Amino acid sequence: MQRALDFDKTPALGVPLPFFLNVPLFALLAGLLATWAGPQAFASRWNGAALALTHLWTLGILGSAMLGALLQILAVACNVPVGAIRAVSGLTHVLLTTGTLLLAAGFLGWWPAAWISATVLLGLAFAVYLAAVSLALWQRRHQVYRGAREILVPVRGALIALACTVLIGLTLAWSLGLGWPLPDWIDTHVLWGLAGWGGLLLMGMSFQLLPIFQVTELYPKPLSRWLPLLIAGLMLAWTALDASAGMPRLMRETVELLLVGAYTLWAGVTLRLLWTRKRPTPETTTLFWYAGMFALLACAPLWIWMTHGPSPQAGRMLGVVLITGVLGSVVNGMLYKIVPFLLWKHAQDAVIVPDQDPGQARIYLKVLPKMATYIGERAARLQWGAHVAMMLCWTLAAAGWPPAGLLAGPLLIVSATGLAWNIGWALRRYRKALQAMAMLRDSHPELR
Ligand code: HEM
Repeated sequence: MQRALDFDKTPALGVPLPFFLNVPLFALLAGLLATWAGPQAFASRWNGAALALTHLWTLGILGSAMLGALLQILAVACNVPVGAIRAVSGLTHVLLTTGTLLLAAGFLGWWPAAWISATVLLGLAFAVYLAAVSLALWQRRHQVYRGAREILVPVRGALIALACTVLIGLTLAWSLGLGWPLPDWIDTHVLWGLAGWGGLLLMGMSFQLLPIFQVTELYPKPLSRWLPLLIAGLMLAWTALDASAGMPRLMRETVELLLVGAYTLWAGVTLRLLWTRKRPTPETTTLFWYAGMFALLACAPLWIWMTHGPSPQAGRMLGVVLITGVLGSVVNGMLYKIVPFLLWKHAQDAVIVPDQDPGQARIYLKVLPKMATYIGERAARLQWGAHVAMMLCWTLAAAGWPPAGLLAGPLLIVSATGLAWNIGWALRRYRKALQAMAMLRDSHPELR
């Protein structure tokens, strides 16, 4: 595994940034919807508000962040830059954003025209993105950095899982739009979406990013080599068992148990690596990783409860913990690393040219804000507190406690506003840094 990233391959700021800006915006929207719908949104998995919230989260918040971050990671960590990246990212972003809004509108209003339009837009968004990324992975297969091979296994698995999730999702939405009976594929859609696309991508990122940014030891080699393959195999086995009639339920449950065990093992190892890291004080991103991994540990008892209950609350709680607690925490925390880094890097690249006189570079470096000043640690920690309160409250709301159902929306609004404020602050700082450097250039003729 490689311990360095090739930051010179960083794509233009306009490539990942719009995806990252979607995160607080869709979170605000989900917060407003949950506030309006109240406890009823959490009462059943199948009511319109619950399905709209699910997809504002999975496509608007998590999907946006993961698609944007992957374009960045493939370039800097794997030497796999995606071709025509500006066109691909711009098109995917617009189609994903409008498609997700329409899908949510379809669920809320039980509105066939919205489902059909969402199917077309989301189908195009994922077709463009997956085709461009698959082409890049194929064309650059011989130039991939040696140390990046291990993370490409979970990344490829995650992309295949995304394609399956989307294909099933599109079929379901198209059927709803045309009033056809729904195929019985919802559990497969959920499994491939959360455990496949979400889980494998997070796992791949953790193998690469935790040792570099959290200064942890490397993951044990057998784990990083075999665990993603085991998970992919278990998901295939689960799907085959689910699709074949007459198989005893016990076989499917055994595969689920192994899947839960695999993810619990990864959470345990990740927590140990974070605990024994070389930096003594946790940063906000570390706290988000802790929140995400503890939430993942909580999924094991929830799965046992759901399987042996059987209780509708347990299923709802498991979904909420996975979406807001595991994936939501890691995505939110990742933004506090990646956004300041990108702004700092692009501010520097705007003025410092390779082979430039080092004296000139030093003059600019004096006015360039340091990376740590783009988002204040205190403000980020406060938002972490709001996020943790929100995820606990959403879990209690899914458990059926009405006061939590009333508070869930407002708490998400608070957390999303905090995140929007912190990212907005970083963008203001970036703009000011560019202005300061322009003024410096005007007042020092030798810099021109
Ligand atoms: C093109 C993208 C997608 C479309 C069109 C889509 C569409 C749908 C539809 C139509 C349903 C079933 C609604 C019903 O039974 O009435 C559904 C359920 C669900 N989808 Fe998606 N989906 C998409 C992507 C995703 C992704 C990427 C994830 C997760 C990462 C996801 C997670 C879920 C979950 C968890 C449910 C079940 C909700 C529940 O049980 O409460 N979907 N989706």
